[in-house]
Amino acid sequence: MADFVGAVDQGTTSTRFMVFDHGGNEVGRHQLEHEQILPQAGWVEHNPVEIWDRTQSVMRTAMNNLRLDASDLAALGITNQRETTVVWNRRTGRPYYNAIVWQDTRTDAIAAALDRDGRGDVIRRKAGLPPATYFSGGKIQWILQNVEGVREAAEQGDAIFGNTDTWLLWNLTGGTHGGVHVTDVTNASRTMLMDLETLDWDDELLSFFNIPRAMLPQIRPSSDPDRYGTTLANGPLGGEVALTADLGDQQAATVGQVCFSPGEAKNTYGTGNFMLLNTGTEIVRSSNGLLTTVAYKFGADPAVYALEGSIAVTGSAVQWLRDQLGIISGASQSEALARQVEDNGGVYFVPAFSGLFAPYWRSDARGAIVGLSRYNTNAHLARATLESICYQSRDVAEAMEQDSGVTLDVLKVDGGVTANRLCMQLQADILGVPVSRPVVAETTALGAAYAAGLAVGFWKSTDELRDNWNEHERWEPTWSDERREDGYAKWKKAVSRTLDWVD
Ligand code: G3P
Repeated sequence: MADFVGAVDQGTTSTRFMVFDHGGNEVGRHQLEHEQILPQAGWVEHNPVEIWDRTQSVMRTAMNNLRLDASDLAALGITNQRETTVVWNRRTGRPYYNAIVWQDTRTDAIAAALDRDGRGDVIRRKAGLPPATYFSGGKIQWILQNVEGVREAAEQGDAIFGNTDTWLLWNLTGGTHGGVHVTDVTNASRTMLMDLETLDWDDELLSFFNIPRAMLPQIRPSSDPDRYGTTLANGPLGGEVALTADLGDQQAATVGQVCFSPGEAKNTYGTGNFMLLNTGTEIVRSSNGLLTTVAYKFGADPAVYALEGSIAVTGSAVQWLRDQLGIISGASQSEALARQVEDNGGVYFVPAFSGLFAPYWRSDARGAIVGLSRYNTNAHLARATLESICYQSRDVAEAMEQDSGVTLDVLKVDGGVTANRLCMQLQADILGVPVSRPVVAETTALGAAYAAGLAVGFWKSTDELRDNWNEHERWEPTWSDERREDGYAKWKKAVSRTLDWVD
């Protein structure tokens, strides 16, 4: 058998291709950013054609640099930014509109209407999600209503929907000549259109958004021995490789962190933060503002579910310091700047740029920086930004404990922001539990590779994957309980200042 497994991680700001060996070690990678299109306040779009181009480039470049060819890969997995919505023509392969990104709030009115007439409660019960701009259903409805010709094309079966996993699988397996139109249970669980129990599209939910069923991809397991398809011989791998895994990126990170038992949780620090707690085969419904989602489904085994705390803005708040305020020239500088001061100097920053997600679900919230005095400097703002990442995670961790009764004794972390060691120390201090980062911090791509490899027998069982997990670094809490609770009370006060901002 081939020695490696490949994974495409199509994220919010960039796309990467990574190759892993049997020990779960990274062998190589290539990564490219794509444009963030911001046509007006609250709108965020990506160009799907650019994403497909970038995907091909990163695959080709990584394979060339590693001097590998398709026969060196036992399987290929896809993982992706979830919810981001693409609608394209199945005959021409051309998108009708830019991808509407998960952070985009243009569907605010659609989401609000769902809660006025009881439909919201049906969505909560069947799909496990609170009606919100975040999910794909409203974004599909917006495209059907606002982009000329799409409604008619959808009725005729020509306009089809996918998140970026589906878009890439379609292109990798056939492109304009008609590739596969599939997604997996984890991505489908983010649309407000899938019933968590049946794991199928639900006609009542579809009717809420007036979405023709023919637009929707077939829902498959996240790891599938009956491969979704095969890469094209003349595609970016230059040969045929079995496509056997597809998972939303946060679910992939849960797999990469080997959270296979109920009660195990991980927190990924990317553009946003996403904490997932494995609840096993039980569907746990949240009373505290969390989502119920599918964690993964491996082949014919029953689906495993999770509670999720989704936070829209964490790493992207650091990017905002760089791009909009210009107080740092690179994200990594945020640590050095924040270390210039001992504490936040009384400053709290709530980066509610896309409203507030879990556990608040308030699309009418907007960002606020509070507690300023003339004494404060850029360094305090940098520190408050790092703290905002950690306080938002505490909000979510508290909701998780209340919903599940599980008390975290350690928080497994991953993602780009975990390179910021001050932020990780602050996380341990603010949460009051140790924080642990594995050797392979790219757990998202690793999880997609694991799911792909499991499907073809490259890895035999999840136990084998557990053996690959090794701790790289651990941060212990150092704050007194008094300091921790005082800081958290001030954070809650700051959050209250951001609510009801939009009429
Ligand atoms: O739900 C959105 C999430 O999947 C995006 O993750 O890492 O691309 O910011 P990321």
